[in-house]
Amino acid sequence: MGIFTWITGIPGPSGFGSASTAEQVTQGIDASNLTAIITGGTSGIGLETARVLALRHAHVIIAARNMEAAKEVKQLLLKGNGNARVDVLKLDLCSMNSIREFVDNFNALNLPLNILINNAGIMSCPHQLSNDGIEMQFATNHLGHFLLTNLLLDKMKDTARTTGVEGRIVNLSSIAHRYPYNGGIRFEKINDRNSYSDKKAYGQSKLANILHANELSRRLKEEDANITVNSAHPGLIMTNLFKHSHLISRIFKVFTFFLWKNVPQGAATTCYAALHPKLKGVTGKYYVDCNECTPSKLARNEVLAKKLWDFSNKLVNSAQNS
Ligand SMILES: NC(=O)c1ccc[n+]([C@@H]2O[C@H](COP(=O)([O-])OP(=O)(O)OC[C@H]3O[C@@H](n4cnc5c(N)ncnc54)[C@H](OP(=O)(O)O)[C@@H]3O)[C@@H](O)[C@H]2O)c1
Repeated sequence: MGIFTWITGIPGPSGFGSASTAEQVTQGIDASNLTAIITGGTSGIGLETARVLALRHAHVIIAARNMEAAKEVKQLLLKGNGNARVDVLKLDLCSMNSIREFVDNFNALNLPLNILINNAGIMSCPHQLSNDGIEMQFATNHLGHFLLTNLLLDKMKDTARTTGVEGRIVNLSSIAHRYPYNGGIRFEKINDRNSYSDKKAYGQSKLANILHANELSRRLKEEDANITVNSAHPGLIMTNLFKHSHLISRIFKVFTFFLWKNVPQGAATTCYAALHPKLKGVTGKYYVDCNECTPSKLARNEVLAKKLWDFSNKLVNSAQNS
């Protein structure tokens, strides 16, 4: 898939392309036996993903930091689809306590878990630290999802084992994974304020999303766990994600209108990776416009993926012990 197919929307080998919508790529799929958690399901791509998964009869758990917004979204989804099975639970990804509480609350519901969509994200915010003292974009986009996924894995493995249905994890990355700091991840200077770049920090966190997916995929394959892990770039979609660069992005969009998608198109790759039967058994891959793509060299670096895994574990453990 290149720039020509991106702009024209011509379908790739999967039969879908940049113009395909989430409804189109899930047409005819019955997800009534599936339970899915979607982080950041209150806005943009996550909201549309929640809507379409519920439309395909999945039981959708929206994990949101703003419970007022989450309740409104639930009402909205029920208004559009009276049969939707939607629940909302509080989750703030920049607080490890909140992540642990979310998992306790989810486990208390005694539901199975087939699909985890690590969608929530922030982009290009000024330098700040999370509740646990970690640079905010890395903490929210990568580390929070790293911990959340680890804490939900036993539930996903149990579900896959007892039902025989493949579990799927989808990490929302971005084309911005190609533009991180030099060397990819700043292990030695993760919190450094002086050399902070809001754009490179976003690129770093989105690179981490792919490295995390690849390393987890490798580990689950080794265990024969019947859970796949893939990452996705959804395209360019004007959402709240651009709130820290709103004016510049609006102006940029005027000149590059042919590169942008609407939200239903933006949710297509996520929904494809989460539900499409063609992806059965496919793991450790990166998808753009519903087609497999090759991510950057750094994203394919297995040593870096392993190093990030150990680094993330250390951060999570040190926050727990402090
Ligand atoms: N839009 C694009 O062009 C684009 C391109 C490439 C990749 N992506 C990726 O796609 C994903 C979704 O982005 P979007 O465009 O749909 O953005 P969005 O409309 O801003 O939605 C982001 C969601 O994440 C939630 N969130 C942010 N911080 C959180 C936290 N600490 N804890 C829990 N939830 C949190 C937001 O909740 P609040 O409403 O409470 O803030 C919101 O529901 C992101 O991972 C993004 O990096 C988007």
